[in-house]
Amino acid sequence: MSASAGRRVALVTGASGAIGEAIATGIASAPHHEVVLLCRDERRARERLRRVRERSANDAIRYELADLSSRRPASRRSPGAGEGRCT
Ligand SMILES: NC(=O)c1ccc[n+]([C@@H]2O[C@H](COP(=O)([O-])OP(=O)(O)OC[C@H]3O[C@@H](n4cnc5c(N)ncnc54)[C@H](OP(=O)(O)O)[C@@H]3O)[C@@H](O)[C@H]2O)c1
Repeated sequence: MSASAGRRVALVTGASGAIGEAIATGIASAPHHEVVLLCRDERRARERLRRVRERSANDAIRYELADLSSRRPASRRSPGAGEGRCT
């Protein structure tokens, strides 16, 4: 996690899975937190984005698509995602 404009930003890997979704929801429910869901599949990412936003009542959540077994850079981000970059 790192500080970003007064908020803490958490990158959650495996966010389309059961444990990742629960972790993302828990972090997003804490005050002053942004969450980036790292997923491989865009359909699952969109679904998790909707559920985590709904359950945490936090809109500061976005997803990034990446396959951690691949060296290719992350190619897609959620529509309307802010400028914050995950490096
Ligand atoms: N659930 C349990 O009770 C439990 C207990 C002890 C330990 N664990 C361990 O905890 C971990 C997560 O469990 P889970 O139940 O959440 O598993 P899960 O539902 O199968 O989720 C696994 C997650 O990892 C992602 N993933 C796999 N390979 C990836 C790659 N190369 N790049 C990016 N993402 C990748 C999957 O993405 P996709 O959706 O794209 O496949 C999914 O989001 C597993 O290693 C599991 O063995 C689970």
